[in-house]
Amino acid sequence: MAIERTFSMIKPDATRRNLTGKIVDRLESAGLRVVAQKRIRITRAQAEAFYGVHRERPFFGELVETMTAGPVVVQVLEGENAILKNREVMGATDPSKAEPGTIRKDFAVSIGENSAHGSDGPDTAKQEIAFFFSESEITG
Ligand code: CMP
Repeated sequence: MAIERTFSMIKPDATRRNLTGKIVDRLESAGLRVVAQKRIRITRAQAEAFYGVHRERPFFGELVETMTAGPVVVQVLEGENAILKNREVMGATDPSKAEPGTIRKDFAVSIGENSAHGSDGPDTAKQEIAFFFSESEITG
């Protein structure tokens, strides 16, 4: 299995409740390595562009509001099968459907405030990493 990189974001609902360390612990304990990380406040324009694929969805306005309500922690994670592994550790988008022991089951407030985002495939991982990081900021 090849070593993969994926993009991860700890959302404002989680940074507000001081859950960054607990979430990073879940990721690292699953064998993922944090090879880049920064805590930033994203602008409305960045949120709209990052989630552009959801622009026509009814929840788009709420999504942009929640993502700009406070700081986020953006990360690049590296490991074997990192994209799928990160999605397993996060759990289902809707926390009421997430498996016990997952980040979203244990920490999320709602589907909109679901504590973490992770890339859904290799192409989005590449795009999302490049959206927030230059290659020189990533080091294994
Ligand atoms: P995320 O993995 O960041 O990708 C898109 C986000 O949109 C998703 O997590 C949810 O937080 C949010 N989302 C998806 N569906 C809904 C919904 N029905 N209502 C509100 N927010 C949603």
